[in-house]
Amino acid sequence: MKKILALVLALTLVMGLLSFASAEDAKKKVGIAMPTKALERWNSDGDFLKKAFEDAGYEVKMTYSDNKADQQVNDIQGLLADGVELLIITAVDGQALNTVMDEAQEKGVIVVAYDRLIMHDAVSYYVSYDNYTVGTLQGQYVEEALGLKDAGDKKFNIEITGGDPADNNAPFFYQGAFDVLKPYIDAGTVIIPSGQVAFDQVGTASWDEANALDRAQAILGSYYGDGQQLDAWVCSNDSTSRGVVQALSQDYKGDNAVIVTGQDADDVNLVNIYEGKQTMTVYKNLANEVAITLAVAKAALEGEINGQELADSFDIKVAFDTTSYETTPGNPCPSFLLVPYVITKDTMQLLADTGLYAWNADKTYVQKIQ
Ligand code: BGC
Repeated sequence: MKKILALVLALTLVMGLLSFASAEDAKKKVGIAMPTKALERWNSDGDFLKKAFEDAGYEVKMTYSDNKADQQVNDIQGLLADGVELLIITAVDGQALNTVMDEAQEKGVIVVAYDRLIMHDAVSYYVSYDNYTVGTLQGQYVEEALGLKDAGDKKFNIEITGGDPADNNAPFFYQGAFDVLKPYIDAGTVIIPSGQVAFDQVGTASWDEANALDRAQAILGSYYGDGQQLDAWVCSNDSTSRGVVQALSQDYKGDNAVIVTGQDADDVNLVNIYEGKQTMTVYKNLANEVAITLAVAKAALEGEINGQELADSFDIKVAFDTTSYETTPGNPCPSFLLVPYVITKDTMQLLADTGLYAWNADKTYVQKIQ
């Protein structure tokens, strides 16, 4: 009898230990909510994020929401129902996630806003590039390429195409570029013939190439139909740049090379840059953005983060910023901001150096390694 009792006891102990071990070993679940597959970069971001988190031992659930804010709410609700402990979200619309962010907060789920901020205090951390600097680099490129500093009496015509007003990044890109150009606009050195200057006049719904094309065609038809020269078109990113480049090649009557800016180093745009249809793009290394996100997420899942210490510990240059981005008025979000840089036809090797791009067979331009 004693023997049986001892056996039962031993068995209970072993089973208890086993179940404890399996609970310990159970992978933590992380939810990743990407906006859309229709814009080139989010495919890469999603793939990189998924792989990085899986390699680090997390179970990953990932959704794409077809650029629809409602769908993203449903998708995130699904991730919460699935029991994720941490959410990484690139919002379709940073203002439209209130209810589901309330739910995340109630459940104690950690929210990391990836690349785009969400206007809700459930967001614990924001990982992105310095969005204002992206715009500054575009503005400065135009300033230099046109020689605005030493323009004398010369006058230049410029147009601007901004991003999606639902994306919190878009006003930062716009403002960064605009602040460089404003003194020249005020001085009359830079003219915007369409008169469409304010952020709400130049936006592109959904960052959609076709929307950018339509607006560019309308502007070229109305203000440049008589052969008036256009010197530069400031585009906030590569999808809008593609629309503008198409409009220019179809409808622009002048024979000067119009300076066109962009952002992201998308494949088609790198070909356009090689062909001289686009002039520059601002590059943001996604693998680095993902590496920082993983480190922030890991630290957050383990407890409190010392943001500055964490930022200082990376090989990658990243600023810990506690003032620039507010989730609600007066409530700044601890942000990790990486540093973007300019790529032109002459500096594509810098992309190859990242290991994420390779030269084509003719060694004329680089493309993403799939
Ligand atoms: C990103 C850009 C991107 C744009 C459209 C922005 O939030 O920061 O890199 O070009 O969305 O996808």
